[in-house]
Amino acid sequence: MPDDIRNIVILTGAGISAESGLATFRGPDGLWEGHRVEDVCTPQALERDPVLVHRFYDERRAKLADVSPNPAHEALAALDAAWLGDLLIVTQNVDDLHERAGAKRLIHMHGELQSALCARCGRAVRWEAALPPSAICAGCGSASLRPDIVFFGEMPYRMDEIDEALARADLFVSVGTSGAVYPAAGYVQTARHYGARTIELNLDPSAGSFYFEETRLGPASLLVPELVQQLLS
Ligand code: APR
Repeated sequence: MPDDIRNIVILTGAGISAESGLATFRGPDGLWEGHRVEDVCTPQALERDPVLVHRFYDERRAKLADVSPNPAHEALAALDAAWLGDLLIVTQNVDDLHERAGAKRLIHMHGELQSALCARCGRAVRWEAALPPSAICAGCGSASLRPDIVFFGEMPYRMDEIDEALARADLFVSVGTSGAVYPAAGYVQTARHYGARTIELNLDPSAGSFYFEETRLGPASLLVPELVQQLLS
């Protein structure tokens, strides 16, 4: 790897958690094959049928107890621990596998299953059990706690920090994402605009493969450790 790489941004998607046993969204057995996005991942859906929406995320939250980080999560955590330059893992995933592997410099831009958000006062609290629509916010006392998931049509978290990191990046790596959802799908173009090298690690070509300088096809559990080894050697 060229030694002029100092600052790295890594975007991850559902594909990095697939080998841990968590379903992706698009593709065979994808989550969006079993549910319509409009029914479980929009503010209107929450308003219309809170029981269905809360149950959808309760099921996904409960599944976290049955899965573990895979070598791809572990390799990124090792890179995070060893990398002396700037490094930011931006995950679209709402699972906790990056944290459980030990990653520290991490942003969950689409929220987290193990967090509950008060729709009334905006307070977020760690939440590991089932979250009934009647749950009370300890901050304001109202029954307004909802899954802390960024729904379609809502603003992803910490976009300014992500944009700043992209502007400084010398290397942008995308792992396990279909490039179907913005703003994440546009990050490769932003990184290129600022002169970063761009590498995509994915099982299949994504909607954004065209924008990457290099695309490596295969399972994340093989490709990510290989890239990390190159970066640390
Ligand atoms: N290794 C690497 N890549 C994989 C693997 C694997 N083992 N398995 C699947 N993939 C790839 C698929 O080829 C696909 O391109 O991961 C990608 C998963 O794509 P999606 O299911 O669309 O998931 P993602 O890109 O994370 O979705 C983005 O869409 O629904 C919203 O908010 C949701 O964060 C999600 C966003």
